[in-house]
Amino acid sequence: MEHFVIRGGRPLSGMIPISGAKNAALPACVASLLTDEQVIIDHVPHLRDVSTILSTISSLGKRVVRDEESVSIAGGEDLRCQPQALFVEQMRASFLVLGPLVARLGRAIVPLPGGCQIGARPVDLHLSGLRSLGAQVTEGANSVTVVAKRLRGARINLPFPSVGATEQIAMSACLAKGETLIENAAWEPEVMDLADLLRRMGAEIEYREGSLHIQGRPSLHGARHLVIPDRMEAGTYLIASAITGGQVTVQGVVPEHLRSVLQILSGTGCKIEETDHAIKVTSDARPRPINTITAPYPGFPTDLQPPLVALLSLADGTSTVEEKIFEHRFTYTSALREMGAQIEVNGRTAVINGVSKLQATSASAPDIRAGAALVLAALAADGESTIDNLGQIDRGYEHMVQKLRGLGGQIERIS
Ligand code: UD1
Repeated sequence: MEHFVIRGGRPLSGMIPISGAKNAALPACVASLLTDEQVIIDHVPHLRDVSTILSTISSLGKRVVRDEESVSIAGGEDLRCQPQALFVEQMRASFLVLGPLVARLGRAIVPLPGGCQIGARPVDLHLSGLRSLGAQVTEGANSVTVVAKRLRGARINLPFPSVGATEQIAMSACLAKGETLIENAAWEPEVMDLADLLRRMGAEIEYREGSLHIQGRPSLHGARHLVIPDRMEAGTYLIASAITGGQVTVQGVVPEHLRSVLQILSGTGCKIEETDHAIKVTSDARPRPINTITAPYPGFPTDLQPPLVALLSLADGTSTVEEKIFEHRFTYTSALREMGAQIEVNGRTAVINGVSKLQATSASAPDIRAGAALVLAALAADGESTIDNLGQIDRGYEHMVQKLRGLGGQIERIS
């Protein structure tokens, strides 16, 4: 089985370029379903999840052309209303095609995504949002059928600012008749990036005081869009700097998107330096312990919780991390415990008694971010670790081996 071999215990240092954001590129590709005209998306990372969304879109009848950094999506005069189940099963973000297909075709049949490693992840808010827009939603055992002659604008109050539900409803509402108000909308930078693309495509969409205001249009047109930098990738490498006692600069980022992460790293004793598009994190001592919770933006992102817990497992004292977004996001801590970390999980809270050293291990990447956390722990640990199930890491980190080697990390991919 393909695996990483990592020889840890050395500080990382140097500069690392940050790729386009996976979680912005995925909905941007889906938004291309809202028009037959050409949509060009730049700064699209080469990731397994991006390939999956492009396959989903091709399976619907779109012409997709990918080159080095860009994706062009066009056509669709004979758009189909049902994507291949295989692609939606591989990745939950494919479920986002549902609303745009209904808006364009009046009907869509999309497989229901199941739960995953980190939680049950229902899609009730996506479906109730589409019902509010006037769609008839029928849930089968494995798929959902949604029908609407023309969606109509509505006032929708989300009980939780779900990223996916906000994106699903916003894309659908762009082609609805009349005005839609999404209250308590998610406003993660990736959601705002999607809103930017939709505006370029001719949509009237604006975020004000916690709500997305959308004036529906009969049609949208083609556009070109540059995806924002990946704050999760940047945050992961900044934590890698902290955990190895290194000095790493992430280049091509929006520091504002990482504010909560920088506050936490500063709380653990790291020195932070930032310019308009770069951040340097320097660490020369054991991290200080901290207590924190994950939260919707601008809070500390759940996706960086596993790398943070890896860092805190080496802190000089006891930390707590409460996971507020996904109910099963601590399962990877068993692998950290095998490396010598002292972590106790009580429900949604991890209590981490810092140790001075981690030992090398052999482990499997359980999901994208937990996989990254294990890589970070291995880079800090004494000795040689192996990490397999790299398909998970490939879903979210472009060229991870080359990037870490560029920082002096001793990591190899063995086929
Ligand atoms: C997106 C991100 C993911 C990130 C998450 C939270 C993408 C492709 N993925 O996932 O990396 O960790 O945001 O920032 O952008 N929920 C419901 N019902 C719903 C929808 C969500 O109960 O209909 C719950 C979920 O189970 C979860 C919480 O809301 O507990 C947050 O989920 P959501 O914000 O929707 O995350 P995703 O869009 O799936």
